[in-house]
Amino acid sequence: MISPSLPDSILIFDFGGQYCHLIARRIRELHVYSEILPYNSSLEDIYSLKKSMNIKGIILSGSPASVKSDSALIIDKRILELNVPILGLCYGHQLLANIFGGDVSKGIIREYGLKIVKIDEKIGVLEGLNDVEKVWMSHGDTVYRLPKSLRAIAHTDTTPIASFIHNKKPIFGLQWHPEVVHTENGLKMLRNFIFNICKCDVNWRPSDFFENTIMDIRKQVGDKKAIIALSGGIDSSVAAALAGRALGNKIAMIHVDHGLMRFNESNQVKEAMEKINYKINVVNARQRFLERLKGVYDPEEKRKIIGEEFIRVFEHEAKLFGAEYLIQGTIYPDRIESGITQNADTIKTHHNVGGLPSKIDFKGIIEPLKDLYKDEVRAIGKIIGLPNELIWRQPFPGPGLAVRIIGEVTKEKLEILRKADVIVCEEVENSSMNVKPWQYFTVLTNTRSTGVKGDERAYGWTIAIRIVESVDAMTANFMKVPWELIEKISIRITNSIPEITRVVYDVTNKPPATIEWE
Ligand code: XMP
Repeated sequence: MISPSLPDSILIFDFGGQYCHLIARRIRELHVYSEILPYNSSLEDIYSLKKSMNIKGIILSGSPASVKSDSALIIDKRILELNVPILGLCYGHQLLANIFGGDVSKGIIREYGLKIVKIDEKIGVLEGLNDVEKVWMSHGDTVYRLPKSLRAIAHTDTTPIASFIHNKKPIFGLQWHPEVVHTENGLKMLRNFIFNICKCDVNWRPSDFFENTIMDIRKQVGDKKAIIALSGGIDSSVAAALAGRALGNKIAMIHVDHGLMRFNESNQVKEAMEKINYKINVVNARQRFLERLKGVYDPEEKRKIIGEEFIRVFEHEAKLFGAEYLIQGTIYPDRIESGITQNADTIKTHHNVGGLPSKIDFKGIIEPLKDLYKDEVRAIGKIIGLPNELIWRQPFPGPGLAVRIIGEVTKEKLEILRKADVIVCEEVENSSMNVKPWQYFTVLTNTRSTGVKGDERAYGWTIAIRIVESVDAMTANFMKVPWELIEKISIRITNSIPEITRVVYDVTNKPPATIEWE
């Protein structure tokens, strides 16, 4: 019998889709506990989870796989017999249709991006929606025919069965992604599933996370010591504050100046943390990083080298302090884009995840924020009392300017990029835009072009401006900023940086691009 004190929870089966964790995060946003399981978890696994939670619903995630291929990812079909509501999203939708006897095949047109869907029956997950809805699609395969047990309840101009409902059981499929912010009423669809269909109680709050995480860190480190490296961004600052609360003087906080920081950034990091009473040891490691990056052009190789150098510096500092544990501020999007889940494609190797060397001289690495998204980290930062300047600092990648210089990183190129970055930051921050961009920066391309400066031919570098808006960095849109702003930036850059002859504005969204260029 299920104890009434166990938390109501939604299980998410991870088929490796890019947005799998976003589903968990949206459920947390609705204050309900959720847990992600590998897609091939068995009925017995589910039974053992029932000891610690009250399983009220199951969601099957998207996937880069195809249900029609030999390597299709399938679930233990006995799970479908549990009398628990099930919602299939994208691949999950196709998988359920296929298991129940429908036809799935390659779509005539790959639907990708924003689509208009016509809601034919406002029922179940689709209850209370408009006649037409804007939804986020990303699929190659399509469900073309349903068995008698299922019926279609929504369609698009190219997908005849964009959503279905089971005629007798609480089983639903959505070809689109309600978890992505671009699906305008996505949260309403998830709310319908979680509260109306699964009848979950509200039971998850960020303050619970704060208390539980401090206890977890204490338990893991025991009577040993740990170090944490601060980049100065919100993730490592929150991780440091949690670790500081948990470990007191058993934690050393360091900041590695790898020479790939923005102008004056290492000093700013030290000062910001000192303001809130954390002592930071700034380690000057500029020379060793630049040496290792000499002659390296490949972005993934750069990331791996930087990841390895970071660890070597951490190991050295840990020995000096007598620490056996390393605490990192890795968040979920870092991990998903590094391909940490079994079936996800690797997009880029984030230095503090996939970029780690195979041999690491630490007893353990603790990543207290590994399941959270940036805005959730910001919410925790507020609870901890971090200053606004830290909470709203724009994200900066661990490998720093190295991933904003296309090709080889040199001291000269770093100088050029730093100067351009200062101009973009000043102009964006002084402009009167209504929405603060998620990130605004410059990228030094490896393209030279002809210009004319002071009546003379100039042959210099092309620099790109990137200004994007985003909620969680999983998707992003380039910002349609006023042309006057771009013109001002362009004139300042070309006037004050002789090595630059051309400025371009990046008008690509994510996907298909990523936010950083490398
Ligand atoms: P992308 O370029 O993958 O970036 O769309 C998503 C967000 O993550 C930041 N980013 C990184 N952060 N280590 C980090 O700590 C990394 O290797 C890394 N690469 C990208 C990026 O600035 C953006 O906010």
